[in-house]
Amino acid sequence: MPQTTDYTVLFTPFELAGKRLRNRIAHASMTTLSTPVGRVTERLIQYHANRAVGGAALTVTEPLGMMHHQAGLPRVQVWRGDDADGLKRFAEAVESQDCRLLGQIQDAGRGRHYPGRNPEAIGPSALPDDLSWTVPRALTTADIKALIEQIAASASHLKACGFSGVEISAGHGHLFHQFLSPWSNRRTDEYGGDWEGRTRFVAELVIALRAACGSDFIIGLKLPGDDGMPASIGPAEAGIIGDLLTRKRNVDYVCFAGGAHARTLEMHTPDRFGPPIPYMHFIKELRHRLNGVPLMALGRITDPAEADGILTRDEASLIALGRPLVADPAWPRKAAGGRTWDIRYCLSCNTCWGAIVMMHMPIACVNNPRVGRPDEVDFAPPRTDTPKRVVVVGAGIAGLEAAWVAAARGHDVTVFGASNVIGGKAWLRGRLPGGETVSSIYDYQTVAARRAGAHIILGRRVAAAEIIALRPDTVILATGSTMIPPDWLPAAVRAEGWVPDLRTALIETLRFTGRQAGTTVLFDTDHTEATYAAAEALQARFDRVMIVTPRETIATDVQLVTRQGILRRIAQQRIGLVTLAEPRWNDACAEGRLDIVNIYNGDVCAIDDLALLTYATPRTPDDALTIPLRAAGIPVIPVGDARAPQEMLFATASGHAAGEAV
Ligand SMILES: Cc1cc2nc3c(=O)[nH]c(=O)nc-3n(C[C@H](O)[C@H](O)[C@H](O)COP(=O)(O)O)c2cc1C
Repeated sequence: MPQTTDYTVLFTPFELAGKRLRNRIAHASMTTLSTPVGRVTERLIQYHANRAVGGAALTVTEPLGMMHHQAGLPRVQVWRGDDADGLKRFAEAVESQDCRLLGQIQDAGRGRHYPGRNPEAIGPSALPDDLSWTVPRALTTADIKALIEQIAASASHLKACGFSGVEISAGHGHLFHQFLSPWSNRRTDEYGGDWEGRTRFVAELVIALRAACGSDFIIGLKLPGDDGMPASIGPAEAGIIGDLLTRKRNVDYVCFAGGAHARTLEMHTPDRFGPPIPYMHFIKELRHRLNGVPLMALGRITDPAEADGILTRDEASLIALGRPLVADPAWPRKAAGGRTWDIRYCLSCNTCWGAIVMMHMPIACVNNPRVGRPDEVDFAPPRTDTPKRVVVVGAGIAGLEAAWVAAARGHDVTVFGASNVIGGKAWLRGRLPGGETVSSIYDYQTVAARRAGAHIILGRRVAAAEIIALRPDTVILATGSTMIPPDWLPAAVRAEGWVPDLRTALIETLRFTGRQAGTTVLFDTDHTEATYAAAEALQARFDRVMIVTPRETIATDVQLVTRQGILRRIAQQRIGLVTLAEPRWNDACAEGRLDIVNIYNGDVCAIDDLALLTYATPRTPDDALTIPLRAAGIPVIPVGDARAPQEMLFATASGHAAGEAV
């Protein structure tokens, strides 16, 4: 790897359990959902091999099947010992790139964030999970000893297959965390009672792992640094746990995470509504409690300068990157080679979490449409033999993604943007709370497109005739979508336009900074993240904001960790919620009176100081150009919302695919 970097400490080698790390960067464990039948898949190997090729010195797998009772889970079933070839190929693919491969040991215990309860759940005590109210079966001491034996045997199998070590996931509210916390562990035997008792399971597991795998096997420990729950584990308690579990110095590194499997789960994937590196305050405190065991800093460290700064100030010895390496596996290589400007940055939007947990698809990223593909690392679109003239209509993130890929392939690309600014809807999202990171998507795309020779013409809404006159071989249509007015809004009022859709309302509202009297009513059948960011922006400008939805709650199309943050902020900011309801339009609305009616019983909640009525609803594609262009014999590829209105993940993915397809 060329070393023209300023980040000297970040790229200084390190050693764990006698094994060399070429730099200080580890890829944190990320569930990729790429092993549906419990065996190693090419996709899983490729995902980690890419992070290794991209320059990480160590990568931790997602949780593996290390215990017999995990047989039914979609994870690689190590304990069975029947996929040694797969595990060996996995280890070889990663280790041959000078990257240490660690298998993660984890069990969800009582934790469940899907609907329903888990009748198979195990835990320290028969106390309910905070999210599903699953009550686990309390493990007996014999059960605990059997689990330790099974895990040690599985780890020894990993070692035989070429893995460099394991990481015990004892944070995030999972089984080991449940044992550590007095909130979930009320045992009175030797595995409970006090800190020594509550840490005993993990302590005995470490001893068994060391005995089974020897001193040249890396054992990492992920611990709760602050789980945010009352009478549980805050930084002070984390210090006690860290101290107890490192006294024997038989673990090789410790990292601390936030959140529990509870209403604080959002803390485990800190998002863009909070500060960068949010765990730093407890990381700094806790590094002194580890008896000299190296500390790996974790949590929304997105930039090489931040990472290097942490190490330079001696606040940690290693840096773990989860989402930033999903967004760009070549992050280390680019930082080392003086190409920080070329990194596709993590937005901390947790779209990746939504992909696996809500959409049940392999991990995906809004800023990296190629996660896990063979040519993902430092992707350079292959040159075409048949350059074409390509017109991209729309300068949002779908159009720009198509534009840079097509231009880099050697096509002659012209982009027309109707607005004077780049980014489309994403630009607007960037102006709302939690939006600062969004610009990194279109900034990267714009620079890449211009570098590849694309012409970007802004402030021009092109008509079909103009496009046809350019004689393009292909048109990529990225013209977005428009919110569909709700049925309760009379056609005449729609035409007058004084009940604007949320986007139009925002563009108007963001122009002024003072506060306005009265209530804003936001009718919501959109239920995606941006709607609630908009509600926060409106709340900052009006006396009151009230969200009205016909569903039983809000944010139903947002995955859990982001939804928790939305619900918390809506409550903290006193934004009103009326669920199972719709506005009823009548003449009094013009005088500022609006009835909000329960959809089942007709009960009315009356607003008498209405200042703004707006709606966030499903969108219809703005694809009117398709028919005339196709009639003129021009192939049209619709992308993003112009193809099927959806979230940003689909915008960049479909734009990227179109850029490859032309
Ligand atoms: C999509 C996703 C999947 C994750 N899967 C795991 C996991 O399987 N095991 C684990 O210990 N942590 C998991 N995490 C947490 C990360 O390892 C990490 O602690 C967290 O994302 C904060 O680091 P980051 O800001 O660098 O992403 C996951 C996080 C995300 C966003």
